[in-house]
Amino acid sequence: MRNLTEENVTEAVINTFANTENPRVKEILTSLVKHLHAFVREVELTEEEWMYGIQFLTRAGHMCDDKRQEFILLSDTLGITTLKDIINNRKPPGVTEYTILGPFYVSGAEEMPAMANIAGDTPGEPVVISGRVTNPSGQPIANALLDVWQASAEGFYDVQLPDQAELNLRGKFRTDAEGRYAFRTIKPSFYPIPGDGPVGQMLRAVGRHPYRPAHIHFILSADGYEAVTTELFVEGDPYLDSDAVFGVRGSLVVDFVQHDSAEKAARYGVTNPFYTVEYDFVLQPLS
Ligand SMILES: [Fe+2]
Repeated sequence: MRNLTEENVTEAVINTFANTENPRVKEILTSLVKHLHAFVREVELTEEEWMYGIQFLTRAGHMCDDKRQEFILLSDTLGITTLKDIINNRKPPGVTEYTILGPFYVSGAEEMPAMANIAGDTPGEPVVISGRVTNPSGQPIANALLDVWQASAEGFYDVQLPDQAELNLRGKFRTDAEGRYAFRTIKPSFYPIPGDGPVGQMLRAVGRHPYRPAHIHFILSADGYEAVTTELFVEGDPYLDSDAVFGVRGSLVVDFVQHDSAEKAARYGVTNPFYTVEYDFVLQPLS
């Protein structure tokens, strides 16, 4: 292994993995070196660019703490997270599609009765969300759990604002015997991903905006079914086709239907005007 050349350096490095005990570690390291070397060859990486890359990753590391994960943000904004999610969540057509969990999930939200309001007194336009959870043949799934969380009308999650009540805009709901669920909330807003670190710098360098289209997060689970992490997106949002983290799926874009009826609003326990959203989730039985 002396006098290595452009042509044989990759093979020489890969050969050093020959005795790796774990076959998956060997496969991943071999492929990683192959692709990284191919990248360096393709762009003919300069000394200065190599150092910039090292410093970029170092700055990303320095941004990370128990609340902020700049490397996940980097993975998200380069589409790596979504590619990984698609590969790991292949589902038959008709089953509710998976999309990105995001960094704002907090476990421990309260289980609430049907039609409870997860927004409390947070200002915003009221929304009533309802529908069913079924299996792929349309049979209701009773007692399915919907774990719901979302940003406010200003585009912030509770954990981002020290003055917002803990677990605000979060709640858990169970389906009834007919597989029905219903809850009240407020219409979420689009929001920017954090732009004060190297990822924000990268987005600005390529002329990309930092916004995610408005959405409501769900984790659905039920005995005997595969759980699914997903989001419902607001039809008409200006960022549906340019989500900064590539998470939008057409099957998850829903109409927020506006109503102007004091009588209906009173029946739902919301102020007028208000929106309704109807969405049926389909879970895949465990194989
Ligand atoms: Fe989100």
